[in-house]
Amino acid sequence: MHDIFSHSNVFMAPMAGITDRPWRTILASCGQGNLISEMAAVNAIQRQNPKSYQIANVKDEPYPVVVQLVGNDPRLFADAAKLVTDLGAYSIDINMGCPVKKIVNNEAGSALMKDLPRAAEIIEETVKATSLPVSVKFRKGWDNEHINAVEFAKMCEYSGAAYITVHGRTRAQGYSGEADWNIIREVKQSVKIPVIGNGDIDSPQKAKERLDFSGVDGIMIGRAMLGNPWLLHNVHNYLHGLPVSAKPTLSQIKEKLLQHLHLLVEYYGERGGMAISRKHIGWYVKSLYEAKRFREQYNKLYDFAMAQKLIDDFFTGME
Ligand SMILES: Cc1cc2nc3c(=O)[nH]c(=O)nc-3n(C[C@H](O)[C@H](O)[C@H](O)COP(=O)(O)O)c2cc1C
Repeated sequence: MHDIFSHSNVFMAPMAGITDRPWRTILASCGQGNLISEMAAVNAIQRQNPKSYQIANVKDEPYPVVVQLVGNDPRLFADAAKLVTDLGAYSIDINMGCPVKKIVNNEAGSALMKDLPRAAEIIEETVKATSLPVSVKFRKGWDNEHINAVEFAKMCEYSGAAYITVHGRTRAQGYSGEADWNIIREVKQSVKIPVIGNGDIDSPQKAKERLDFSGVDGIMIGRAMLGNPWLLHNVHNYLHGLPVSAKPTLSQIKEKLLQHLHLLVEYYGERGGMAISRKHIGWYVKSLYEAKRFREQYNKLYDFAMAQKLIDDFFTGME
């Protein structure tokens, strides 16, 4: 079984609607760090839903990709694991942390933290169905009255997980409040499999500080990478004593943003790609002068050529 930690101990966090193939290509162009898909629902895969198939299909990507699955039925996990193995996944991650109502109401995502026997069965069936490493991503617990990350971690290890990721917030917290790295540290001390810590990492220095504090094997980064794809590689380098790049210049931001837009249009078509590009473009330029006015103009566009021209004018105006 291959070891994903041999590539890097820094991981991009899975984010629905964001961590697609264009985004992975952008991150890979910035340097090292482990990449993941958006979550693919096992029941949608079984129905041969084209969008889920597209998410799960990571064939021909020139770097290892973890594919994340979400659902509640162990049998469907086994079927989906076989399919994503054939579709080029490097390893499989099971989402047991998603707080979103639509997912939780189907007893999936973080709802599985309240049903350990079912969670164990899902892990066991997935492990049986594939030769790839299977990992699990979960939270601190359901809410403050039900903090069970340590017990849950032990269950994952016992059920055959190759490694685990802990996001230091409860389901009730969603993404608010501060992530609790004490619980991440406790989890690390209670299992032998590698543990990845996740929550609020927004700089190489913070990554190192949290890694040293908790003793975890890896660091996962989510929101701080939006509009800042250089962060993953910078964290990797900092943790390994390698040079960290300076704040990107205006021309580097422009180049990355245009490259990203191009990849989105290529992957989703002009209309779809332009629509998805809006949030990314907004994140890239958010700290720049007159960003609000630029975004308002950009968000009205559906035409790739006009978008490129607007971006060009925006950056030329700042020189
Ligand atoms: C927009 C968005 C979408 C997310 N989608 C997923 C997902 O599909 N699967 C998952 O396991 N976590 C998902 N997460 C949670 C992140 O992977 C991560 O655990 C969380 O953002 C905390 O890390 P951060 O503080 O570095 O952002 C999502 C988070 C955000 C903000």
